Amino acid sequence: MHQFITLIFSFFVAAGAIANDLVSADTAAGQTLYQSKCLACHGVAGVSIIPANPILAGQHGEYLYKQVQYFRDGMSKNAIMSAMAQGLSDAEIANVAAYLSEQQPVIAGAADMELAQSAEKLYRGGVIADGIPSCASCHGPAGEGIEPVYPRLSGQHAEYTASSLRAYASGERENSIMQAIATKLSDEQITSLAAYISGLAP
Ligand code: HEC
Ligand code: HEC
Repeated sequence: MHQFITLIFSFFVAAGAIANDLVSADTAAGQTLYQSKCLACHGVAGVSIIPANPILAGQHGEYLYKQVQYFRDGMSKNAIMSAMAQGLSDAEIANVAAYLSEQQPVIAGAADMELAQSAEKLYRGGVIADGIPSCASCHGPAGEGIEPVYPRLSGQHAEYTASSLRAYASGERENSIMQAIATKLSDEQITSLAAYISGLAP
């Protein structure tokens, strides 16, 4: 029953429209902006090699567009990214989001296979008794996400995924769905889920 409600909810939330700025985005201008302002931290073509900095290659455009706006407008509190996003217009953000969404996704890979495997059941089925829903119900069995609302998780650096789950739990990052879920996860569950996700292939 719980699963069923989650699925209906997912469908409802996912039925949003793609932002107009993205429809008319200029990916060449996005590439130029990316290379001058973002590449140093997020890597060539969005493939970050620094575990604290998320891989952005192949992430959904709509999700990227919104996240940069959240940093700019204060809904997500991260000193580095808030500073980076200041002064960017919606159109510039759309251009860079469109450029990144067209790059080939990569897989960071799980460093600790045993730890990663221990989270497979949790990722796929959740823990109904604790009110933890299946991650796969929104983010997909392979972590590919569902455009436009549910981001790709697969292949992300474990360090970044763990810190983003902790940011939802502490409220540094606001999102009603993920805050409700992250506050129910133990530290061990966060660490093992992050390891599992880093090894998922899109
Ligand atoms: C000085 C390093 C640095 C620079 C430069 C930088 N970023 Fe970031 N970025 C980060 C870090 C660190 C995070 C993780 C923040 C967090 O944990 O909330 C991040 C997070 C993000 C996210 C969130 C990804 C997700 O999966 O939710 C997006 C999108 C992003 N950056 C885009 C950009 C863009 C676009 C630029 C250029 C305009 C840029 N960044 C420049 C360090 C940087
Ligand atoms: C009901 C749907 C739903 C379920 C179930 C769900 N998520 Fe999410 N998740 C979302 C949405 C929506 C976002 C984007 C939130 C935002 O804008 O910050 C998200 C974002 C995330 C992010 C941030 C990605 C990034 O690049 O920064 C992580 C990590 C994440 N979810 C992990 C999980 C894990 C692990 C589970 C299972 C324990 C889970 N999610 C279950 C809907 C869901």
